[in-house]
Amino acid sequence: MVWLMSDPCTGAIYLDNAATSFPKPECVYSAVDTYMRQMGVAFGRGSHTGTSDAARLVAQCRQRLARILDAESGDRVAFTFNCTDGLNLLLRGVLRTGDRVVTTTLEHNSVLRPLQQLKSELQLDVVHVDFDADSGLVNAEVFARELRSQHTRLALLNHASNVTGVVQPVRVISAAAHETGTLLMLDTAQTVGHIPFSVRDLNIDLLASAGHKGLLGPLGTGIVYIRNGLEDELLPARCGGTGTDSESLVQPAVMPTRFESGNLNMPGLAGLNAAAEWILQQSVDGLHSRISQLSTRLSDSLRGIPGVTVFGGADVQNVGIVSFTLDGMDSQDVAAVLDQSFQIRCRAGLHCAPLVHRRLGTISAGGTVRLSPGPLTNQADVDTATEAVTQLAASL
Ligand SMILES: Cc1ncc(COP(=O)(O)O)c(C=O)c1O
Repeated sequence: MVWLMSDPCTGAIYLDNAATSFPKPECVYSAVDTYMRQMGVAFGRGSHTGTSDAARLVAQCRQRLARILDAESGDRVAFTFNCTDGLNLLLRGVLRTGDRVVTTTLEHNSVLRPLQQLKSELQLDVVHVDFDADSGLVNAEVFARELRSQHTRLALLNHASNVTGVVQPVRVISAAAHETGTLLMLDTAQTVGHIPFSVRDLNIDLLASAGHKGLLGPLGTGIVYIRNGLEDELLPARCGGTGTDSESLVQPAVMPTRFESGNLNMPGLAGLNAAAEWILQQSVDGLHSRISQLSTRLSDSLRGIPGVTVFGGADVQNVGIVSFTLDGMDSQDVAAVLDQSFQIRCRAGLHCAPLVHRRLGTISAGGTVRLSPGPLTNQADVDTATEAVTQLAASL
């Protein structure tokens, strides 16, 4: 197999795959182009030949995603416009006045802010369980104790932190959630397509993810998974035309239509469908090993540079994110130098996860510098990044 340069157009090294994956496999670009030029139709509207081609594409995409998630069937997957959209859809669907939610301080603002909003709208009781600053792991025992101490509607956590990349102990929390009759919802923005897992094996009730990160689809795509039968318990946060049951004034009850009002992002889904096929061909396991090998190499080398602190334990499972600070330099400045002097594109700051930085003590450093390789990153790319940080640290 031929692995491309990180960014074949500019020669720059793109290490910001945790924000959105780039470049995408070639088949993703051509699928979007083909859809735009040769199909162009809306999904589920009308009955001409073009719309049945679109329907086939959407069904195929759902089935491929269901295989990646090990979901019961393709219709358990509904399309959204990004992970945030899906998280909002699920939270608004599932929560009722006075509900209790147990979550963590690892969460992204895409969870923290909707919860804060719903807390005031619905008088929710929201508990944030902390994580260990050294390992980056949430305290699963404390989380489980919270679930056992009081009836809780929803256990909600980040499958892997977008700051440290550390994969969280979901199995222990899932067991406690099901023992106590609590619904389990995961934010899998950083894990779907990156690490192999099964929604059925982990007993996950609800999941939201991005289509444009580890799933390698275009921006403007996202998914939710809703466990079989659970759709009845969820109010549709968005109602409108679905192209089905048009004589009824009531939102359809069936999956996935119940949660997909208005036109879908068809060019985006054409790209996501091609990306899902590519991922299945490579296998999530294979992609994970490749990225892990690169990120471990990067993280091990950075840990050896004087003045560099890498966050998240070296011996815990990681999706391939390396976050660090450099003594004596603001993280934003580090990223600016990496960009301007070394053509390394990465991200610095709080990564929309303010409570993580409070715990890590990295707010005064301007957050962390985050390097995130993707499936098309080369070993030479991560070695160039190590060399750049080495030179920068030596110059201070
Ligand atoms: C953990 C986590 N949750 C949610 C999101 C939001 O994803 P999106 O931009 O697709 O809405 C991100 C994006 O970085 C993330 O890392």
